[in-house]
Amino acid sequence: TRRTFLGGAGALTALAGVETIGAPPTAAAETPQKQTYLRRVDARDKVRGATRFGADRTLPRMAHAMPVVATIGKGRIIELDTTAAEAVPGVRLVLTRFSADELRPAPFLLAGGFAAQSLQPMLSDRVAYAGQLIALVVADTLVAAAEAAALVTARYEVEPFAVELDADGAETLLQSAALPHLPDIDVGAADTAFAASPVRLDATYDGPPQHQVPMELLASTVEWQGENLLVHEGTQNANSVRNGVAFQLGISPDRVEVVSHYVGGGFGQKNSLQSHLAPLAIAARRLGRPVKLVIPRTQTFHAASFRPASRQRIRVGADRTGRLLAAIHEVDQQTSRHDLLPMQYTELTARLYGIENFRGRHQLVRTDTQTPGYMRAPYENIAAFAFESTVDELAYAVGQDPVALRLANDTDTDPVTGNPFSSRHLAECLRRGAHRFGWADRRPAPGSMRAKDGSLIGWGVAIGGYKAATAPATAELRVESLGRSRCRVTIGVDGHEMGQGIRTAIANLASSDLGISTQDVVIVVGDTRGASPQHNTAGSWGTATALPAVHAVLRSLREQLGLPATGPVDLPAAMAGRPAVEVAARTKAPGQPDSVFDRVANGGVAAAGPAYPEFTALSYIAHFVEVRIEPRTRRIRVPRVVSVVDCGRVASPVTAVSQVRGGVVWGIGSALRERSEVDPRFGGFLTASMEEYAIPVNADIGDIDVSFVDKPDLLLNVVGVKGLGEVSMVGVAPAVANAVFHATGRRVRHLPIRIEDVI
Ligand code: MOS
Repeated sequence: TRRTFLGGAGALTALAGVETIGAPPTAAAETPQKQTYLRRVDARDKVRGATRFGADRTLPRMAHAMPVVATIGKGRIIELDTTAAEAVPGVRLVLTRFSADELRPAPFLLAGGFAAQSLQPMLSDRVAYAGQLIALVVADTLVAAAEAAALVTARYEVEPFAVELDADGAETLLQSAALPHLPDIDVGAADTAFAASPVRLDATYDGPPQHQVPMELLASTVEWQGENLLVHEGTQNANSVRNGVAFQLGISPDRVEVVSHYVGGGFGQKNSLQSHLAPLAIAARRLGRPVKLVIPRTQTFHAASFRPASRQRIRVGADRTGRLLAAIHEVDQQTSRHDLLPMQYTELTARLYGIENFRGRHQLVRTDTQTPGYMRAPYENIAAFAFESTVDELAYAVGQDPVALRLANDTDTDPVTGNPFSSRHLAECLRRGAHRFGWADRRPAPGSMRAKDGSLIGWGVAIGGYKAATAPATAELRVESLGRSRCRVTIGVDGHEMGQGIRTAIANLASSDLGISTQDVVIVVGDTRGASPQHNTAGSWGTATALPAVHAVLRSLREQLGLPATGPVDLPAAMAGRPAVEVAARTKAPGQPDSVFDRVANGGVAAAGPAYPEFTALSYIAHFVEVRIEPRTRRIRVPRVVSVVDCGRVASPVTAVSQVRGGVVWGIGSALRERSEVDPRFGGFLTASMEEYAIPVNADIGDIDVSFVDKPDLLLNVVGVKGLGEVSMVGVAPAVANAVFHATGRRVRHLPIRIEDVI
């Protein structure tokens, strides 16, 4: 049993400075409801630097840690010399190896465990990949720790390694055999139907490894309070961090609490227990002092997950009007030597259109890297690049407009399960996007549109989708009377604020339901000290998970106070004579058994979707992109993008627009900038810094016009919301690639698309 959040009330800060404003222009124009919307409730705190991230925790007597990492691609440590490091003034500990009885490896999150990978460094002399943690220096100051870490020297026995899909020693496995719970999709008779199709396309697309590069570095501050461990860390999954580090240290999870009130960008990199945390906790226990570790930017490229390399072969068969008859989607994807990163590229591509004959096949390729993981739209971004490039190619092959061809292949039924979609407004996204973009003025022939300065103009379109996932959640609510006319409402719920705006969405719902100011609503997310376990916030299920639970707890409160189930209420009047009322509620995804709550209680992940018992649920988007290619430099610019989203009801328009802009920017990065270059000589990644790993900057980004269909999906949940964070990125890369084709006649089948591809 968990205590309520009252135990952690000291950590709560009231949301300050909230004001209601009219809807912003883009949202107002498209939104049917007439209501006011909240600005980001934590905006003022953020710009004042008042929000506290994991590394902002500073304590008396706190020591600082600095990692030492392996400089070989694979092998064995023969000797680790720490003498010079230990001689640096202020150095307190140089840890090089833990014993099996003080530190256990934690199982991989995506194999039902807790951790970013199953391999726990510093348990043996093995080096599994370049950049692996091999020692941890702890000193009184950060400067001393950094100086000493640089003085640790290692001698290695180097072994052959593989860091590329085609390298000698890379080992290929059929995913459906290695992970039988993930069978490949096979509906109709794809091979026969493809062979019989009058129009056939067959092409292979290369997807590069990429890294998440969130602004907030991986950082943890750990403090032992007697026998109890308190962790301050930006994480999307406080529950798995808590249960996982307890498992590693052999202590009860009740003795660990994790505080992650704000995350400076998660994007999948922070969805699990990191390899550095248990070593840090042991160091703090040995020293009897709090210890802080901020992993340097250059180390994060090997210390945490990344988007793995992939290769996709797409075969599509159609009739001469462009009606899709068959598709075969085969994927090879990189994983590590020690874990199998599960993938479901075809979960999306089998459902983008009404294709009756579809076959998928996923192969995992083991390489000598840290375990790759999820990075915003993990498979969907790159799956849509391949599939939507192929659909564009089909439009040219049959002489159809790319928007019209997509509309003609739309469907109301999930081709995989035969169930209806809970909601699907993809056609509206395409029609509205075409209108807002001015698509009717497009001249179809490649190279036929030019700007006054001679630049080639290309207009491209692509669609995207993302599973509308939902997870179990617990919400607790406490009302306190603050005199005759005011109440304070504190709501704790499973969720993590990564900047996506989950606090704003919750505040919007609670303040409008109870008719109180958001200044009197305190929201507790990312804190295991309450009753909500703080289940993983990922897979774009955060809002569709937290809001139904908040809705349920608001109903419980109304019931408790004898108020009507819906409609305006006078909360202070209803609270008259009672100092405080506390209620709790929990919700789960359609079709989930009650046992999901046990799974969550044990630190596991328990999300459902896109296929639910009665229906299939996805969010959708259509992107229209203009590229301009300068005649001499061939530099590719993106002056404007129009994106129209179907994410169900828009719970928080201001932050929703921001989410989509961020996704579009990242899609442009994926299309034109981002590639983690691997190092076949020494292992690992060469582009391990923000200088070398190119992401878009403001000067790269033009106008991004965002609008929403904003129709509630009431089959999926009572609030009508579907996911938004990841779908916003899906389809941007192919829309850019299709625009590049329209500008140049070049079909580029790899990412990123660079100057040399369009010379
Ligand atoms: Mo997301 S890449 O599931 O955090």
